[in-house]
This record gives sequence, structure tokens and C-alpha cells, in this order.
Amino acid sequence: MASRGGFTSRIGFIAAAAGSAVGLGNIWKFPFEVGQGGGAAFVIIYLAFAFILCFPVMVTEIAIGRKTQKNPAGAFTALGFKKWRIVGLLGVLAGVLILSFYNVVAGWAFGYFIEMVQGNFEIGKDFGGFTSDVVKVGGYAIVFMLATVFIVSKGIAGGIEKASKILMPTLIIMMLALAIYAFTLPNAGKGIEFYLVPDFSKITIPVLYKALGQAFFSLSLGMGALITYGSYVSKKENIVTAAALITLADVSIAFLAGLMMFPFVFSQGLPPTGGPGLIFATLPGIFESLGPVLGIFVGSAFFLLLSFAALTSTVSLLEVPVAYVVDEHKVNRKLAVWIVAIIIFIIGIPSLLSNGASSFFSNFITYIGADKATDFMTFIGHIANDSFLPLGGALIAIFAAYFWKKHNLNEEIEQGFPGFKGTFVEKFIDFSITYLAPVILIGIFILTVLDRFFGIHLF
Ligand code: TRP
Repeated sequence: MASRGGFTSRIGFIAAAAGSAVGLGNIWKFPFEVGQGGGAAFVIIYLAFAFILCFPVMVTEIAIGRKTQKNPAGAFTALGFKKWRIVGLLGVLAGVLILSFYNVVAGWAFGYFIEMVQGNFEIGKDFGGFTSDVVKVGGYAIVFMLATVFIVSKGIAGGIEKASKILMPTLIIMMLALAIYAFTLPNAGKGIEFYLVPDFSKITIPVLYKALGQAFFSLSLGMGALITYGSYVSKKENIVTAAALITLADVSIAFLAGLMMFPFVFSQGLPPTGGPGLIFATLPGIFESLGPVLGIFVGSAFFLLLSFAALTSTVSLLEVPVAYVVDEHKVNRKLAVWIVAIIIFIIGIPSLLSNGASSFFSNFITYIGADKATDFMTFIGHIANDSFLPLGGALIAIFAAYFWKKHNLNEEIEQGFPGFKGTFVEKFIDFSITYLAPVILIGIFILTVLDRFFGIHLF
């Protein structure tokens, strides 16, 4: 382990993995997915997927990583299943695609920080104008990628671990305070109702697969990010408790984000279906309502912390392809980081242009049976988050249950969790990766592809 570096402390790994999980997915994406997915019913399905399917897959990913101390592709080879490398490669590709657009959105968050510092609350009303200013938004995306490069080239303990430990708690405190403020606003009740009182007639196939994609995305699962982080974890670590803490932290923060957002959205009379612009359109007006001094302070602090939350996630996204290039192609870490980052930035250019700057990328594809075109960034999200991640998760579960075999998985978990075998969690994880995850994940994957890409709506 010495030559690859590793986490120096127990809390360091949990903080970094939670830092990877908590990000734009929780605060930017979750509220808008709930908004578009019909509210509370989406939330319930999301929570069920997170605990029943994602948590067991998370344990499995970390165990595979720690056992092999390899990147996702190398891990399968190291266990003696060379053909399964393809799953790791799919993960590396998913990481590249996700980071390509994630970095753009992270740049928006950082740009909003700069706007808030200047007291420009009007920016909320002109989100479209903001995202179509390519020079500005491109500049922010470059700054963001450079920050990610800086941390990833420093390696595990120095960069990733340190940054995660301080920033996460601050963000949580800030969101709690905002959620409390949200409750005091007019129409807050309508927001809470939308968010917490389910209308099960809203559950459709798209709601199922969007909730599933969101659960995987938010927990950083299905592409081997946690195989990679697991590869730096000590044998003394209890993987099961770590995964439980990470899942709980991530889900709670997403839940809190919704609790804060929907009262805000409804109090401003905005539609909850605002999509990717939801937090960017909603929050500036809220900060303005706090008065100029407090507004600037809270607004800039919020977007700065959001940028940091995004940074601990971009770090994990970049780390996966970098670990792959370092391990499998014997490139030194610094060089690998730069090469991979530049390639990803270039792949991200169409996403950068797809929010107003270029009508070609803004109306990139019209699915069969859809009434309007989808932009490039959303399209990449449909492929990488909603399709690759659940598929990756299914394959990882199938691999562990039917190929690597349960006793090997258990043996790895037992290190750091003596007495794991025979416990309820063991039976639960076993049942989930053997039956639930393969069946549900593959089933929903097929429904997703048919529904979205072929316009075939089975029910
Ligand atoms: N989970 C992060 C978020 O919610 C995004 C992310 C980071 C991710 N690393 C990942 C998603 C790996 C999937 C796989 O913002």
C-alpha cells in the first residue's frame, strides 16, 4: 500500500468518501429531480433504492477495492477475472463523461459565488443569460478543473482527505440554518406538502429510473469510484459501518437540501419543475430577501461551500480515470492527472455550450416520441448517470455474488468487522446483491433504455 499512498485515518476515508458522495448531486440535482419527478413519491422511491440496493453495492465496491488495491479495471483482473475488466472500463468511461459536465455545473456554482460577492441578486432572473456567456462560464469551468487537478495531483492523504474534513460540516450547518429560515416564509407549507406528501399516481417508469439513477449518482456508485477509494483503505476499517455512515450522510444531506429548497421555490411562486436551473434561479431571490448585508454574506458563503462540496466530488471523479492510467499504463501521477483533465475538459465543451450558447448543442437530440429536444448536457447525463451507473451497479453485484463468490466477499469484510458472518447485515447484503440488485437493476435498466431511447413505454 505504501507506494500508492492511502488514507491516514479512519475518519479520513469516511470524510473523503462522504465528500465524494455529497456534492452537486445532493444540492443541485436532487431538488430538481424531485421537482420534475412529481415530489414526495420520487423521494420515497429514491430512499428505498438508496438503502435496499445502493448500500449493499457500496459495501461490495469498497470490499473489491480494498481486497485488490487496484483501480476498477485492474481490480477485476487482480481477482482473476480478466473478462470482467470491461465493467471497470465502463466505469472509467462513466467517470470521464460525468466529470465532463459536472465540472461545467461546478463552474456555475463558483460563478454564482463571484456574483453573490458583488451583491448581484438579479442573476437568478437571468440564469439563461449567465449560462450562455461562454467566456465567463468557460473561465469558471477552467478554474474549477485546475482546482481539481491541484488536489488530485497531491494524492490521497494530503489533498483529498484534508479538504473533505473541514468543509463538509460547515456546509451542513449552513443548510440547516437556511432550512429553518425557509419554514418561516409564506407558502412554505405548500413546498413541504409537495416534498413530503406522496401522490403515488405520479409514479411512472421515468420516475423509477430517474430515482434509481439519482440514488447511484448521489452515492457515487456504479462506476468503481468506491473501488478506487476502497483501494486506499486500511484492513482495519469496518467497511459495513463506513458504508452505512456514508449512505446516511449523503441521503440526509440530499433530504435537507429538499427541505430547504421547496419552501423557497413555492414562496417565490416558481414552478418546481425548473430543471437544472432550479437552485440557480431560486436562491438569489431568497438571499436578497435577507437584506443587502446578510444577503451578500449568506449568498456568497452558500455558493462557496457548494463549490467546495462539488470539489470533493470532482476530485473523486477525476481520481478514477487517473488511478486507471497510473496503475495500468504506468504513467506518473502528475502527468496522468494533467492528460486526463485536459481530455475531460475538451469532452465537456459541448456541455458548456449546451445551455444557451449554441442552439445545436442546446437542442442536441429529440428522442423518439418526445415533444421537445434535449440538450447535450442532459443527454450525457441520461447515458452516464441514468444508464451506465445502474448497469455498472448490477454487474458489480452479479460479479460479487456469482463469480468472485460470497465467501470471498465476506472474508474481506470480516477484516475490520470480526463476526460479520451470520449477522443480519450479512444476510441482507447477501440477499440484495444475489437477487434484488441484479433483478431490479437489470429490469429497470431495460425499461430505461426502451422508454427513453426507443420511445417504448411498457406501462
Ligand atoms: N456523488 C456526487 C454528487 O452527488 C457526484 C459523484 C462524485 C459521482 N463521484 C462520483 C457520481 C462517482 C457517480 C460516480 O454530486
